[in-house]
Amino acid sequence: MRDVAALVKRAAAEGFTRGEIVSLLRAEGEAAALLFASADRLRAEVFGPVVHLRALIEFSNYCRNNCLYCGLRRGNRILRRYRMPPEEIVALARRAAGHGFRTVVLQAGEDPYYTPSLLAGVVREVKRLGVQVALSVGELARADYALLREAGADRYLLRHETADPSLFAGLKPDTSFKRRCRCLRWLKELGFETGAGPMVGLPGQTIASLADDILLMRDLGVAMAGIGPFVPHPSTPLATAAPGSVFLTMKVLAVTRLCLPLTNLPATTAVGAAAAGGREAALRCGANVVMPDITPLRYRQLYEIYPGKWRVDPREGSFARWQEYLKLLGRTAV
Ligand code: 5AD
Ligand code: SF4
Repeated sequence: MRDVAALVKRAAAEGFTRGEIVSLLRAEGEAAALLFASADRLRAEVFGPVVHLRALIEFSNYCRNNCLYCGLRRGNRILRRYRMPPEEIVALARRAAGHGFRTVVLQAGEDPYYTPSLLAGVVREVKRLGVQVALSVGELARADYALLREAGADRYLLRHETADPSLFAGLKPDTSFKRRCRCLRWLKELGFETGAGPMVGLPGQTIASLADDILLMRDLGVAMAGIGPFVPHPSTPLATAAPGSVFLTMKVLAVTRLCLPLTNLPATTAVGAAAAGGREAALRCGANVVMPDITPLRYRQLYEIYPGKWRVDPREGSFARWQEYLKLLGRTAV
């Protein structure tokens, strides 16, 4: 406990070592409570009570990849697939902007149907609405990222999933950790506000490798870090694996906040799916962003990365209802 207090004090000045991060991730009881409180205090110092709301549009659940943990994997033959026409994506973004969202996140599986030039067209239309555009459409060639950046996309989310290269190789057969990192470097070079982030509690993942996740994000200088627990999906090879712990996820969030004070940290939908009140807990241990899912229900139900995801948001992606709700938590939504 005293160790945690001393470490936290030193962090801002010098940064944590790998060993220190590991010991913080092992904190239990009062020491963990102190870790959470320290992260919450730092979040409040940097961002005040402000929570950034970003409207999430999941526009296609097709994916050419076969990640072992994900319900959208191409091998999941029982999932009904959908694609939103470009006009529908733009119409949803327009509605979101009208309701007050300042950022729209366009997310999909890696779906080659949406060529980079088609996506660039969508980005240009959405940018005309006066909002920030974040993209989350996976690994592309550098030239394609450049095209999307030129079209006006401001941010790009590409979670690194795990910084353990052999675990990565076992879970993502279509790519490699090296390629993932190369994409992240390109995105940064092109001037995107770049987001990475791990899943917590993957089968075979160690505390030391979670420390490496945090160090990787620090080295990359990520602007965002999406951190959520692994939630097993019944139609994947990891159906019977143990779920990731919400407590450990909160510790990863809190240490990430301490290591990366200025980074935007979402209270992810996965942490809300893994435990009732999970997102609220995340907002109290360092998180400063929520991404309400504004995808129409008929599609959202099919965007089943992990089970129960579509049911997590009781405020149905409504900006006004999120504003009201966050007010109850003493936070101001913008
Ligand atoms: N549990 C939790 N998160 C998952 N993701 C994919 N599958 C799962 C799962 N079973 C996350 C990955 C991916 C993002 C879109 O969703 O981190 O990058
Ligand atoms: Fe596709 Fe992403 Fe799911 Fe992998 S995690 S199968 S790339 S949607």
